[in-house]
Amino acid sequence: MDNIQILIVDYGSQYTLVIGRTLRELGVRSIILPPKKVDKWLDSNTPKAVILSGSNWSVYDKGAPELPKLLDTTGKKYFILGICYGMQLLAYKLGGLVAKPHEHREYGPAEAILDTIHPLFKDVLKKTEVWASHGDTVTKLPKGFTSIATSGGIAAMSDKSNRVLGIQFHPEVINTKKGKKILQNFLTLSLCKKDWDPINLIHQIQKEVLDVVTPAKKQNIILGVSGGVDSTTLASILAPVLGKRLICIAIDTGGLRANELEELKANTASALGKNLKKNLAVIPASKEFIKNISQTIDGEEKRAKFRAVYQKIFEEQIVKYNAGFIAQGTLATDIIETGKVGESAMIKTHHNVGLSWKVEDLHPLRNLFKYEVRELARVMNLPPAVYERNPFPGPGLYLRVVGTPVSKENINLVREADKTVTDILKKYNIAKDISQLIVTLLGINSVGVKGDERVYGHSLAVRAVQTSDFMTAKGYYFPEKVVNEIINALTKHKNIVRVFFDMTPKPPATTEFE
Ligand code: XMP
Repeated sequence: MDNIQILIVDYGSQYTLVIGRTLRELGVRSIILPPKKVDKWLDSNTPKAVILSGSNWSVYDKGAPELPKLLDTTGKKYFILGICYGMQLLAYKLGGLVAKPHEHREYGPAEAILDTIHPLFKDVLKKTEVWASHGDTVTKLPKGFTSIATSGGIAAMSDKSNRVLGIQFHPEVINTKKGKKILQNFLTLSLCKKDWDPINLIHQIQKEVLDVVTPAKKQNIILGVSGGVDSTTLASILAPVLGKRLICIAIDTGGLRANELEELKANTASALGKNLKKNLAVIPASKEFIKNISQTIDGEEKRAKFRAVYQKIFEEQIVKYNAGFIAQGTLATDIIETGKVGESAMIKTHHNVGLSWKVEDLHPLRNLFKYEVRELARVMNLPPAVYERNPFPGPGLYLRVVGTPVSKENINLVREADKTVTDILKKYNIAKDISQLIVTLLGINSVGVKGDERVYGHSLAVRAVQTSDFMTAKGYYFPEKVVNEIINALTKHKNIVRVFFDMTPKPPATTEFE
């Protein structure tokens, strides 16, 4: 396999893995490393380009991450692109000036004026919409650098050789209209060749897992499956190389949606194929989950309790099946938001990230994004029910009862509501336009009137988002007719008096309510 052409230094931005994903979309593989690990890697590798990511740090903060010692900032060995903090750090360390943090961060859409003669902005309109997310800004360029874009202040810089570059805004975020083209221009400038394709990736994943599990021939590999695209695709990638050693375990947590268990069985069966279809065990555990989680309101506390029961059940299955390994379909997004990449901030503790197991745990999809896994699922010939499936969080409906204790009754209510809305979206053929539907029971009871009588009942929130990677998302606006039908259908329930629609984008909101 070819050497990695791009090194991404991860200073902890929420978007670092999105840089890697965008490059992969452009056909180029990259390696993402936290600053501490970069010197060791650079010692034995010479990439074609290095990208320095954004960060929450200011270059003036005590303890702010530094440029790697071995990084050649002259640009002679490789091209360099600093993004946001990456640009500020480059400018600061090379003798420029960075303005002290603003009281308020510049955050959201902004307009930039680009120097389109510069190869980085080739074929991009002079005036372009970009995504800004920063506190500090570069106010004076280092010697030998020129400004190649402005947006209020300096928005991009280049040295004379066009080999050391910086961009203040985020080209990796889809809200930067021509961000992908800018990154493509950077790949062209640095003479990177296409080296990524799904078949290749499937073989890499199989090889990586085989390298780990082959020496322990007698031990099985447990794979947690949920029926969703990630774990189903992983089952289908691993089944041909692990055969009977692969034991898929699904847990009926009591937080599943209507029909979900049946769909899970069907999806896993298609991933495992005829010969292995018996290698799926479904563990009924709804009572145990409810017992542990009910009465809990705080989102992170619920997740912690969910994780504990989830882990306990898997540990039991590990013993039962003599497993030496546990594999999970964890994606890059799950890891970022749990705060496990570089220095990125913890947003949510995903139920399956960061658990320590008695056996070795494998996360073979950890560098991939949802849309990439969907592509692998297509290549593996899984049915559309798998690769078109909307995601659903592991803790399931336990996260869809918010601000009020989770009880069996509440879970049943929200399950029924989810089914009602899902059926309406199917009827209007809207499901294909949205990435995820979130129907949530809110802990806000309010007064309503039903059949001329006062009712004091529940409120529900209905939210749908459109996104390609769940790092950012747009709130979906349902047509008025659909809104009315949803309200009518949901308020037929005797205890539901109000329905709210939530179109808040991510950020600032997240997809789920907690
Ligand atoms: P947020 O709410 O963080 O969600 O924007 C992004 C995506 O992740 C799903 N999600 C989870 N998935 N375990 C999971 O397996 C979790 O704990 C979890 N929390 C959120 C969410 O539904 C969305 O698809």
